[in-house]
Amino acid sequence: MEVIVLAAGQGKRMRSVLPKVLQPLAAKPMLGHVLDTARALEARRIVVVYGHGGEVVREALDAPDLAWARQDPPQGTGHAVQQAMPLVEDGDIALILYGDVPLIGVPTLQRLMAAASDRQLALLTVNMDDPTGYGRIIREAGKVTCIVEEKDATPEQRQVQEVNTGILAAPVTRLRSWLANLKNDNAQGEYYLTDIIAMAVAEGLEVVTTQPDAFEETLGVNNKTQLAELERIHQRNIARGLTDAGVTVIDPARLDVRGTLTCGRDVEIDVNCVFEGKVELADGVRVGANCVIRNATIGAGTRIAPFSLIEDTTMGPVCVIGPYARTRPGTVLGEDVHLGNFVEVKNSVIANHSKANHLAYVGDADIGQRVNVGAGTITCNYDGANKFRTVIEDDVFIGSDTQLVAPVRVGKGATLGAGTTLSKDAPAGELTVSRAKQVSIPGWKRPVKVKKA
Ligand code: UD1
Ligand code: CA
Repeated sequence: MEVIVLAAGQGKRMRSVLPKVLQPLAAKPMLGHVLDTARALEARRIVVVYGHGGEVVREALDAPDLAWARQDPPQGTGHAVQQAMPLVEDGDIALILYGDVPLIGVPTLQRLMAAASDRQLALLTVNMDDPTGYGRIIREAGKVTCIVEEKDATPEQRQVQEVNTGILAAPVTRLRSWLANLKNDNAQGEYYLTDIIAMAVAEGLEVVTTQPDAFEETLGVNNKTQLAELERIHQRNIARGLTDAGVTVIDPARLDVRGTLTCGRDVEIDVNCVFEGKVELADGVRVGANCVIRNATIGAGTRIAPFSLIEDTTMGPVCVIGPYARTRPGTVLGEDVHLGNFVEVKNSVIANHSKANHLAYVGDADIGQRVNVGAGTITCNYDGANKFRTVIEDDVFIGSDTQLVAPVRVGKGATLGAGTTLSKDAPAGELTVSRAKQVSIPGWKRPVKVKKA
C-alpha cells in the first residue's frame, strides 16, 4: 500500500501563522495524527503533498519513512495527487488521506483497503442530513457512476445525501493514467480528483463504497472552532477507551490526554486532570482534581491529591503526594514517600518512607530512607553560578526552617535543629544546631510613644 496525504491547503481561516496541518490536536499536529494512522496501516511508502510555505511542515514532521512532494500553486485535489505520483510504484494500491482530517481510524481504512484491488476503486462515503458543500455520489441502478461537486451539480444532484469524504483507495497504475487525463473545465477551474470516478467506471472498474465506523472520523478542520470540536471528540474517545478498560474517570468530559496514558487496574482520575507525554499509572493509583502529569511513571497505590504538577518524575508505590505538590524533571521517589502542600522537588532522589510534608524546596539532593524533612526546609543548591548536591543519609531528622547550603552532607541518623543554616557537613547520629542561643532580658521595657507638645 502507498499512502498519499494531501496537505497543501493554506488554511487561511485558521487565522494563524502556523500552517493548518501543524495545528495541534491533543498536542500533536493534525498531520502527525494522519501520519501515525498511515504507519499503523503499515504503508510501504507515505508521500506528503505540501504547498507553498509548507517547508515548515516538512521540517516539523520529517522522518525517514516519509517522502515529500511539493504542490505550488495548488490547482485542485487531482493536481495535488499528481505531484505525488512520481514517488509511488505501479502495481500497488494507493490510499488518499488528508492532513486536515485527523481522526480517521485504522479499522475504517482497513475495511476501505480490503474493498480496493486492481479491478476495484474503493470510496469512503457518508450520508449527511445537510450535504451542502460536499461532492455528491451519483448512482445509477445502485452503482456509482461519478462524483459531482456542489458547484457543478444540477438541482436534482444536490438532493443526494450520500457525499464524498475525499478518502479513497485506487490501483496506482490506473490512477496514474486517469490523473494524466484530468481537465479543469469545471466551475472552480481545478483538477478534481473526483473526476477519476467516471474514468474508472468507463474502463469497466467497479466503484465500491464503504462507510466509516464513526461519522466524526471524516470531519475536516478549516477553522479553530472545528479544531476545538474535534479536540473534544478525540478526548471523549480517549476517555471512553480508558473507562472501557476499567479506569474510573469521574467525568469523561473533563479529562485531557495529550500523549499516551497507560493505566493499571482500579485507577481513579478525578475531574480536570491533564496528562501529557507518556504517563503510566500503576494499579490503584488515584489522581485528585486539577492535576497536571507529564512524562511520569506512578507506582501502585500512590495517591496524588488535587492541584499537583508532576513532570518527568518516577514515583514508587504508595506515595502520598500533594495537594499543591510540584515535582520537576529528574525527581525519583521510592516507596511510601510523602510530599505535602507547597513542596517542590527537582533533580532529586528521595528513598523509601521519607517525608517532606509542608513548604519545602528539595533540589539536587539525595535523600535516604525514613528521613523527615521539616516545614520550610530549603536546599540552597545554587550559588548564583553553579549548582551543588545535598546528601541526606538514612534516618535523618531535619527541623523546620532549615537551610542546607550545598555541597553539604548530613550523616546517618543526624538531627538538625529548627532554624539551622547548615554550611558544613553534619556528623551522623548527633544534633547539629546553628541558631544563636536564646536569651531573655529581665526588666526590659517596650519603648513608649513620645507625645508631641
Ligand atoms: C473535496 C472533494 C469533495 C469532498 C470534500 C470533502 C474534490 C474535487 N472534491 O472538496 O468531493 O466532498 O473534499 O471534504 O476533491 N488540497 C491540496 N491541494 C489542492 C487542493 C486541495 O492539497 O490543490 C487538500 C486540502 O488541503 C484539503 C483537501 O485537499 O486537505 C481537500 O481540499 P478542499 O479544497 O477542502 O476540497 P473541497 O473542495 O472541499
Ligand atoms: Ca473541504
